[in-house]
Amino acid sequence: MSQGIVTASYIGATILFILALGGLSNQEKSRRGNLFGIIGMTVALIVTIAGVTSNVEILIGGLLIGGSIGLVLAKRVQMTEMPELVAILHSLVGLAAVLVGFANFMDPARLEHYAGVELTIHDIETYLGILIGAITFSGSVIAFGKLSGKIGGNPLLLPARHWFNLGLLIASIWLCSMFIDQSAVGSGLNPLLIMTGIALLFGIHMVMAIGGADMPVVISMLNSYSGWAAAATGFMLNNDLLIVTGALVGSSGAILSYIMCRAMNRKFLAVIAGGFGTTTGGSSTGSNAEQGEVITLEAPEVASLLNEAKEVMIIPGYGMAVAQAQHIVCELTKALRSKKVNVRFGIHPVAGRMPGHMNVLLAEAKVPYDIVYEMDEINDDFPNIDVSMVIGANDIVNPSALTDPNSPIAGMPVLECWKGKTTVVLKRSMATGYAGVQNPLFFEENTRMLFGDAKSSLDTVYKSL
Ligand code: TAP
Repeated sequence: MSQGIVTASYIGATILFILALGGLSNQEKSRRGNLFGIIGMTVALIVTIAGVTSNVEILIGGLLIGGSIGLVLAKRVQMTEMPELVAILHSLVGLAAVLVGFANFMDPARLEHYAGVELTIHDIETYLGILIGAITFSGSVIAFGKLSGKIGGNPLLLPARHWFNLGLLIASIWLCSMFIDQSAVGSGLNPLLIMTGIALLFGIHMVMAIGGADMPVVISMLNSYSGWAAAATGFMLNNDLLIVTGALVGSSGAILSYIMCRAMNRKFLAVIAGGFGTTTGGSSTGSNAEQGEVITLEAPEVASLLNEAKEVMIIPGYGMAVAQAQHIVCELTKALRSKKVNVRFGIHPVAGRMPGHMNVLLAEAKVPYDIVYEMDEINDDFPNIDVSMVIGANDIVNPSALTDPNSPIAGMPVLECWKGKTTVVLKRSMATGYAGVQNPLFFEENTRMLFGDAKSSLDTVYKSL
């Protein structure tokens, strides 16, 4: 394939990736965005594979094995397990960057292609690719463990942990200069191996120190790291498309991390430094204690409340995903709208377990986009709401985030449904949510609890309606 066709295809793929990102920023255009991404990646793969001249069988074999594993995993994964899948996939990007880095360094032709300053630049690229890749790999594996519940969500706070991190950073810089010196004379494997060990340790320590409630930021941050690791690999391999793609993933992940931090009222550096958001709550003001009696309702009574309402706000959370209640939520919405009730959805930026989790579920159930609102758009409307239906949500409607400075979710903006006339909370028990803190909303005078699995509760409400 001529260099001209390769370059033109790479530019085409880059444009498609940018269009994909643009499409994914909006629900209505997200399908188209996905399609652009798929076409871009297909073009990139075809052009890259066509350029390979030796060992094509190994490449095809790898593609078939990897592709089949990916297909089976993607088909099997539950919507609620998506964040774990994303985390483990990020770890593979990191691992690939490490392996490509070592392969590149051990390539005997390296010293023939590069000399002097060029060799130094190439060595720095290799070093950075392996460093970021190793951090991404071990950090993502720990994030996978935490999200899937295989590792506890409590932050591991070592004494003098910031000094420990600083020590690792200084050691990495020192090893880099050692590696560059030794690489020029044909060695350098030892500093590279020691740095890889340090980077793996740093990744583990960094994510272990982050508490459960801050995990969303960690996922998007690891997403960003995986992009930078790919970009560094692109420099190593002189592949422009990989550099651009890596930079797109890296920068969009960084922007997403920033948006998530703002949504949770966290400072990015504070999250990375760790120690926020314990899953046990541990609030010194005792917000985990029971706070009085709750008022329960049965499904037919909830149906009567809805029958009398003019303004209804539905607040979905992680429990809606667990119960797979989105379809019955959509049916209920249709029924209420046919009775001229104004039904809207209020979506918290970190509802569920991944960015956009609720939007995806509601879109799947074909809830019209124009009645789905972001938290900032509708939070001031609650005083006009007759009934707020909180469906399997907990932390995102917890008033103690605004009132208890010791709460693990202190300062996180929440949907202020208690300001409406009546709030109905659908959940199975009084159990806490992801952040592990009790929710004073359940004990408010105008709150009613409808206990049970969200899907079966809503089925009964729908029938009664
Ligand atoms: P949570 O606070 O986790 O609350 C979910 C609630 O759903 C639980 O209290 C649970 O109570 C209930 N539930 C579970 N299964 C149910 C079922 N089958 N039927 C009815 N209810 C059910 O969820 P949220 O309010 O969506 O808040 C999200 C939390 O996850 C935040 O703390 C956020 O920081 C964190 N997080 C978010 C992300 C992203 S990116 N969105 C990623 C990781 C973590 P019962 O057990 O009593 O039913």
